[in-house]
Amino acid sequence: MRVIVTGGAGFIGSHIVDALVARGDEVVVLDDLSHGRRENVSPSAELVVGDIRDAEAVAEVFGEARPQACLHLAAQADVRVSVTRPDFDAEVNVLGTIRLLEAAREHGTRIVFASTGGAVYGECAEPATESSHRAPLAQYGTSKLAGEEYLATYNRLYGSEHSALRFGNVYGPRQDPHGEAGVVAIFLGKLARGEAPHIFGDGSQQRDYVYVRDVAAATLAALERPGRLQHRHGRRHFRARPLRRLPARVRRRRRAGLRPAPARRAAAERPRHEPRRAGAGLLGADVL
Ligand SMILES: NC(=O)c1ccc[n+]([C@@H]2O[C@H](COP(=O)([O-])OP(=O)(O)OC[C@H]3O[C@@H](n4cnc5c(N)ncnc54)[C@H](O)[C@@H]3O)[C@@H](O)[C@H]2O)c1
Repeated sequence: MRVIVTGGAGFIGSHIVDALVARGDEVVVLDDLSHGRRENVSPSAELVVGDIRDAEAVAEVFGEARPQACLHLAAQADVRVSVTRPDFDAEVNVLGTIRLLEAAREHGTRIVFASTGGAVYGECAEPATESSHRAPLAQYGTSKLAGEEYLATYNRLYGSEHSALRFGNVYGPRQDPHGEAGVVAIFLGKLARGEAPHIFGDGSQQRDYVYVRDVAAATLAALERPGRLQHRHGRRHFRARPLRRLPARVRRRRRAGLRPAPARRAAAERPRHEPRRAGAGLLGADVL
């Protein structure tokens, strides 16, 4: 299969590229390298450095690759940036998605769109389901929802079979340990530097975590199931572990003898965009 992966030089996209290459697909990566890294991209894939907002660049890549599928991972994915620069967030996440939808329409390409389960619901009293009320608490969640709605509109208007997947909090190799959301990478990065991890709040928060290679497998599975708009996030239900137990688990595995810094009062700092949802296990053994 010929596939374009937007954002394929980034954390999740590069694992999806690896999975596609491993099964023998022809892969073109479209990434502006604003956050991704050239060295993340498999040497068996072609990297085109370009911006998804640039209609000409997108048309050119689609014209040359004539892809059967486009896995759309490129995004402004920083919640804080979405709050301080909502216009930029919308340009990349909404306008960029529309550029791809238009190119896909011309070439009969099916899009699988990386949406988010962590930011579209807001705070939830109960574990969120796909049909739960959606009330984003940051512009990032709104722009991702808009992307989903554009896909659905194109499906209704043009009979396309695009789908969207709502990922939980993804962790694994190549994750940026300096980001704001990847707590596993942040804790491991701090421990590797001999620093103490910070826990915001009292550490009893629960989040939905999913391993990056499972996300890659789910994305490839979505490619095999064309149809209506689908939303997928953690299907397997594990008991989520409170965040405060994470450093101890890391220490036990690493025998590092480090202690977490005292919890900070966190009302203002707490990321409010993620639901308190127990979806997938907090830590897979393979990340440690
Ligand atoms: N990491 C998570 O936990 C998580 C959770 C839910 C959804 N998602 C979604 O999954 C996707 C990938 O996330 P990630 O964590 O791998 O992020 P990432 O920042 O590592 O990857 C995004 C990639 O998109 C590229 N990019 C950004 N703007 C671009 C533009 N205008 N044109 C072309 N390329 C551009 C970046 O250079 C980067 O390589 C995003 O759409 C994100 O919203 C991520």
